[in-house]
Amino acid sequence: MSDSKRIPQHVAIIMDGNGRWAELRGRQRYEGHAAGIEPIRASARAAIRHGVGYLTLYAFSTENWGRPAQEVDALMELFCQSVIHETPDMQRQGIRIRTIGDCSRFSDKVQAHLAQAEELTAGGDKLTLTLALNYSSRDEITRAVRKIAARAAAGELAPEQIDEAAVSRALDTAGCPDPDLVIRTSGECRLSNFLLWQASYAELWFPQVLWPDFTEEEFDRALDEYARRDRRFGLVK
Ligand code: IPE
Ligand code: IPE
Ligand code: MG
Repeated sequence: MSDSKRIPQHVAIIMDGNGRWAELRGRQRYEGHAAGIEPIRASARAAIRHGVGYLTLYAFSTENWGRPAQEVDALMELFCQSVIHETPDMQRQGIRIRTIGDCSRFSDKVQAHLAQAEELTAGGDKLTLTLALNYSSRDEITRAVRKIAARAAAGELAPEQIDEAAVSRALDTAGCPDPDLVIRTSGECRLSNFLLWQASYAELWFPQVLWPDFTEEEFDRALDEYARRDRRFGLVK
C-alpha cells in the first residue's frame, strides 16, 4: 500500500438503529429518527473533509412501508422538514442532493420538496449525497430489467448488446461509481436489499454504534478500517 491513505471514492451507509436508540431512552421511535439528522450532517462534513466524492444514505426501504402508519407518517414529515431545513446549508457546502428509489409512491408534497432540493443543489461539486428513498435493490433491478426489455421489444437493443454496463446504466445509480465501502450501524450484519448489484466488491463495515450516535470520528474510524483492507477483486496480489 502507498504511504498516502487510500480513500474510498464512494461510501454508502445503512443508517440503522434509530428505533433502538429511542427505546433505550424510553422515547418514541420517531424521536430516534429525528436524532438521526445530525449524523447525516456529520457524515457529509467528514466525507468532504476526506475528499470522498459520493455518499449514499439508505433512508427508507420499500419494506419500511410495512411499519405502523404512525411511524411512516412521522418519517414522511421528517423528510419534508429536513429537506427544507438542510438544503440551503448543503448548497453552501457544495453538496449535490439526488435520490434513488421509486419516489413516485411518495405524496406530491414529499416529491415536490425532494425535486426542489435536487434542483437547488444541482451545481454542487464537492459531494454527491444520494438519498435512497422507497429503495430496494430488487425493486431497482426489476425496474431496470423492465426498461431494458421495453427497449429490446421496440427493436432499439439487441439481446447481445445487454452487457453489465447496459444493466448498470439502467439502474437508478447510473453515472455513479460503485460503492467502495458500505457501513451499517447498530451491529446488524446484513444488507437488507441495499445496492446488491453495486456493492458486489464493496468492503463491508458493521460498527456497533446506533445511527443517532454516529459522529465524524466514527466516519474517520470506518475510513481507517477501509484503508487497512486488501481489495483483491478476485486476483492474486
Ligand atoms: C433505521 O432505524 C431507520 C429506518 C429504517 C427508517 P430503525 O428504525 O430500523 O431502527 P431499529 O433497527 O428499529 O433500531
Ligand atoms: C434497513 O434497515 C433500511 C434502512 C436503514 C432505511 P431496516 O431496519 O429496515 O432493516 P432490517 O429490517 O433490520 O433488515
Ligand atoms: Mg432497523
